[in-house]
Amino acid sequence: MESETAVTVNLADDTPALFERRRFLTLLGVGAAAGAASSIMPGCSGPGVGSAVAGQAVAKLNQNENQIAPSEVERRAMMEALDLANRYPAAEGTLIAGLAAHHGIDEECFLMGCGSTELLKVCAEAALGGSKELVQGFPTYPTLERYARVYGAGIRSVPVDATGHLDLDGLEARISDRTGVLYLCNPNNPTGAVLPDRAIRSLIERVPGQTLIVSDEAYHEYVEDPAYRSLIDLAVSRPNLVVLRTFSKVYGLAGMRIGYAIGHPGTIRALAPHRLQFNLNNPGLHAAIAALDDHAFVLESVELNAQSREAIIREMPRFGGTPVPSQAGFVWIDFKRETGPIRRALDEQDVFVRTYGHSPNHLRISTGTQGNMDRLFAALEIAVG
Ligand SMILES: Cc1ncc(COP(=O)(O)O)c(C=O)c1O
Repeated sequence: MESETAVTVNLADDTPALFERRRFLTLLGVGAAAGAASSIMPGCSGPGVGSAVAGQAVAKLNQNENQIAPSEVERRAMMEALDLANRYPAAEGTLIAGLAAHHGIDEECFLMGCGSTELLKVCAEAALGGSKELVQGFPTYPTLERYARVYGAGIRSVPVDATGHLDLDGLEARISDRTGVLYLCNPNNPTGAVLPDRAIRSLIERVPGQTLIVSDEAYHEYVEDPAYRSLIDLAVSRPNLVVLRTFSKVYGLAGMRIGYAIGHPGTIRALAPHRLQFNLNNPGLHAAIAALDDHAFVLESVELNAQSREAIIREMPRFGGTPVPSQAGFVWIDFKRETGPIRRALDEQDVFVRTYGHSPNHLRISTGTQGNMDRLFAALEIAVG
């Protein structure tokens, strides 16, 4: 486990500052726990937890987390919710009411999940299995495929184009009467590209009713491209389309595991039995309820993301990398040579980024604070020689 060797703690010199660093590294999961986390996330080395303070000790740019979270408002809500630790979660209705007001749609159009991850699993369980198939881009966010395989589905992957965009014609050509799910990750992870709204809507019109279309909009709030639009308005009226959203990114609550699906009430009712009973937790629920009104924090997150994304895109050519224009919380960069050695050299400097077995010449780097970016660029200078 590379991150274990990346940090040396001198126990003989246990000054208060060092103690703080040790406590912090333990929080990050550097050690045995980090080894376990890394083994289920190939290409994703480094510590497993982040925070604003964490940004100072390491630059954890491998999981597209919000580097400035949690906000004071969220923090207070979570602290208060600790008093409910002996109670089963009961505030789901309040959160759904808040979301219904936020999106201007009916409460019965929502299904809450333990992160959008649970909802990806729910969609796979409900709509795949047997001889069904998943149609998706490649590379894309791999969780739906992971569960599709668990449920015995076939996988039909269509390569993205040179600019990282999903190939809508290619996806359509793969759709057949066996297609249980069409997965549209928009913006696409790891490439960061968005699909033009008109083209997606036109494709959706032609997708057969028995195929569930899953539009994963985890990075929706970060998109600036005017050609992009959420599919929420269509999802509430169209039975074979669901949109997934999350509190993990712009709201900075990845550790609290709150996501949601939006769809037609009949679709939501059909998906609901597949979720885990009591899948939400009290601190997460209360933080999410509070986060919906924390507009200043959302704005700050969006602004920071845009600045950092721009900085990564601007600086990468200096290190031999060609970035793909991104609309998300990360940038996909082609170094035209194997990036494993670069990642290892960054690991050694406590700067953690993502590599992929399927794209050995690429790195995916999450956005972060100015401090994170300074560390990243300084470490890259050493890493690429
Ligand atoms: C595209 C995409 N979908 C879903 C998720 C899962 O997010 P959550 O924390 O809501 O489970 C991620 C996480 O990185 C993601 O990038």
